[in-house]
Amino acid sequence: MKESLVEFQKNAEAELNSAGSREELLAIRTKYLGRKGLLTTLLRKIGSVSPQQRPLVGKLSNEIKDVLSVKIENALEEIAYREKCETLLHEKIDVTLPGRGVSHGRIHPIVQMSREICEVFSGLGFSVVKGPEVELSHYNFEALNIPEGHPARDTQDTFYVEDNIVLRTHTSPVQIRIMEKQRPPVRIVSPGKVYRPDSDISHTPMFHQIEGLLVDKDITFGDLKGVLTYLLQQIFGEGTALRFRPSFFPFTEPSAEIDIQCIICGGAGCRVCGRSGWIEILGAGMVDPEVFKAVDYDPEEISGFAFGLGVERIAMLKYGISDIRLFYENDRRFLEQF
Ligand code: DAH
Repeated sequence: MKESLVEFQKNAEAELNSAGSREELLAIRTKYLGRKGLLTTLLRKIGSVSPQQRPLVGKLSNEIKDVLSVKIENALEEIAYREKCETLLHEKIDVTLPGRGVSHGRIHPIVQMSREICEVFSGLGFSVVKGPEVELSHYNFEALNIPEGHPARDTQDTFYVEDNIVLRTHTSPVQIRIMEKQRPPVRIVSPGKVYRPDSDISHTPMFHQIEGLLVDKDITFGDLKGVLTYLLQQIFGEGTALRFRPSFFPFTEPSAEIDIQCIICGGAGCRVCGRSGWIEILGAGMVDPEVFKAVDYDPEEISGFAFGLGVERIAMLKYGISDIRLFYENDRRFLEQF
């Protein structure tokens, strides 16, 4: 038995001396000292040893166990130490490396554009107000003098939520909501999302408009022209040429569309302006008496002008962006430029 133990120790130490890795050391520990290891197997035979010899054999086996444990432990520590030295040798901190930037969100270009426009109007004494995006068809259509059967009422142009509830197709219903609540004078702009089932290079099913409304005594088309000319020169620069063209909207009479001289070609004619040299940018007009009647204003006493503009379109022109969908793809390389 004693010889077996000495033999056991010799073998274990021989293996230990040739072991080079942590895995090997752990395997040796399991093999010799583990619960089902060789030492356990050996000690099962202690029954065959004479009672006088037994304590000695027990003591010897304990000593061998302790010696081997310590050796393995030391070898493991040695390896860990060597690994650490190795890492420290190669892993240098390069203090010349630039730090990692803190990335922070920023305001979406459409929101920036919208705020810029509203600020011009705030400077002129207009208040900024909001209206609901899910709208009664009464406000979106009827009260704006868009009768049933008008092409704009066709399901093709409108997302219907229910028979009489729509996703607003324009910001014009805010005009009605404000006039219902407030007596003249009224001076508001209202930015927000609008919805139409359209999708291509210049249309997204959701886009942004800003509605404007000014109602007071003796408001004329000259006021409309002055205010909108001022706005566009603030946004596009003093020298920007504009063109007021007669048009039709059910809620204004007379109505106009306002074109800006093409920013891209300077009026010479290009692909962006359809070779005309002009780009339509705003709808506007004098508030139709029918609209005033719907909100119980007296068209004999007051008059007013209204306008609606598309924020994406203005941003596209201002920044020379040719595809509206870029605004909504959330590509940071695009968004970070604003
Ligand atoms: N609501 C119109 C549209 O979405 C734009 C518009 C035109 C608004 C003339 C107005 C206006 O207030 O007077 O196409």
